[in-house]
Amino acid sequence: MLPRVFVCFLISLPVLLALGSTAKSSKKSPAAPAAAAAAPPRPPPPNDPSWALGLRLYQALRSDSSSVNTLLSPLLVASSLGALSGGSAGTTASQLQDLLKTPSLTKPGAQAGEALSRALKSFTKANGTSFRLRSSSAVFSKQAPAVNQAFVKDSKARFSLQHKPLGKGDSKADLKQLHSWAKAGLGGLESAPLVSEIQAKAGALIVANALHFKGLWEREFNQEGADRRTFLGKKYTKVVMMHRAGLFRFHEDIENMVQVLEVTLSGGKASMVLLMPFHVENLSRLEKLLTVERLSKWLDKTNVTSVSISLPKANITSTLSLKKQLSALGLTDAWDQKVADFSGVSDKSKGKLHLGGVLHWASLELAAEAGKGSADLEEEHIEKPKLFYADHPFIIFVRDNTSGALLLMAALDHAEGEALHDEL
Ligand SMILES: *[C@@H]1O[C@H](CO)[C@@H](O)[C@H](O)[C@H]1NC(C)=O
Ligand SMILES: *[C@@H]1O[C@H](CO)[C@@H](O)[C@H](O)[C@H]1NC(C)=O
Ligand SMILES: *[C@@H]1O[C@H](CO)[C@@H](O)[C@H](O)[C@H]1NC(C)=O
Ligand SMILES: *[C@@H]1O[C@H](CO)[C@@H](O)[C@H](O)[C@H]1NC(C)=O
Ligand SMILES: *[C@@H]1O[C@H](CO)[C@@H](O)[C@H](O)[C@H]1NC(C)=O
Repeated sequence: MLPRVFVCFLISLPVLLALGSTAKSSKKSPAAPAAAAAAPPRPPPPNDPSWALGLRLYQALRSDSSSVNTLLSPLLVASSLGALSGGSAGTTASQLQDLLKTPSLTKPGAQAGEALSRALKSFTKANGTSFRLRSSSAVFSKQAPAVNQAFVKDSKARFSLQHKPLGKGDSKADLKQLHSWAKAGLGGLESAPLVSEIQAKAGALIVANALHFKGLWEREFNQEGADRRTFLGKKYTKVVMMHRAGLFRFHEDIENMVQVLEVTLSGGKASMVLLMPFHVENLSRLEKLLTVERLSKWLDKTNVTSVSISLPKANITSTLSLKKQLSALGLTDAWDQKVADFSGVSDKSKGKLHLGGVLHWASLELAAEAGKGSADLEEEHIEKPKLFYADHPFIIFVRDNTSGALLLMAALDHAEGEALHDEL
């Protein structure tokens, strides 16, 4: 534990900075809160496959205690699997559909596909307004029989899933091809190598998603450039903290000691939800609390509150192979050459076509930048702000305002920065 005095010291400067901006913004007569902040809370829709799959996949990834800075796009994974489910039959299809099932969908396959397709389009439309997004999805095939053009066309139109054949080379060449595709998908960012090898046998289908996301705030954050703060993550590091006081949807769950904050992104087409334990601790306890029901409750309880936010300027990047986790969630037949049934992908597929991998590359940038139009916003009247001081691990969700779908989910366990040794 940190000595109390030190904690106070950590908090005091940003508070002063934030209060500085408070004083400035309350000089004028109080104005109504920004429309987006006042919009009614929208809990995750109970029939949304991206939340249902996202939370389960996240938990499966985090059950490996070595996972650090987990980041995934539930919407991209779910829609690519949704496309594959349309090309499959038998138990392969039912297991894929079960992954996307939610309690209130009566016809899981078709309805989940519809919901995902709509959400993808809605997010793509918000690109450039609420965030800058790059995203690509592809299904690679290795020495596969001729792929059904109706499947290719449908997956492209509804799920932006491209079909790409892998070259004739060995697994090293395959990996190289996949990596350079991911690099292009991330806008040129180098990504960490895959931990597990990909051995694409003849007939393998490899699903790949790549996404780069940078949220644009309604108003810019102040950056405390020269004076760095300590982020108390896996390692203690020095980071740049960004500050802003304003009106945000906020809730404190006293019993579970969790702060819930929802920050609307520029233009209101998407928002970022942050969950953080009251005190410095790793995320294990909070993660055990995460269910769609509890999240709905938390988001329902948020109300517009004056909050002084401090966030580390940070990037989270991840490279994931999801085979183990998806298998644990019940997707078993698709990987087995003898059992898998992708007859909708290719008529001559029986005994050959199978799933060879589900790969995921993602990066998330937390920066100070606001979107267009921040100058035209009304003044905010901020009073006695609550503190949301993110100097220790927290969880991030990015959700679409219109469809409610979950674009991103991330854990920030560690912020890159100069390491601090033995100071505490
Ligand atoms: C998180 O903290 C708890 C309690 O301090 C500890 O038992 C657990 O091993 C930690 N988990 C990780 C992933 O570090
Ligand atoms: C978002 O807009 C940028 C810039 O216009 C573009 O490069 C990018 O491809 C778009 N992303 C998507 C997912 O359409
Ligand atoms: C966000 O969703 C609410 C509720 O459906 C809607 O009233 C509002 O217009 C939406 N905002 C934007 C910017 O789309
Ligand atoms: C916001 O929620 C808190 C706690 O749930 C409550 O005490 C407060 O009165 C609420 N404020 C408004 C304006 O509804
Ligand atoms: C995050 O990455 C972007 C480029 O992708 C870079 O400009 C920025 O400085 C990085 N931020 C941090 C805190 O490292």
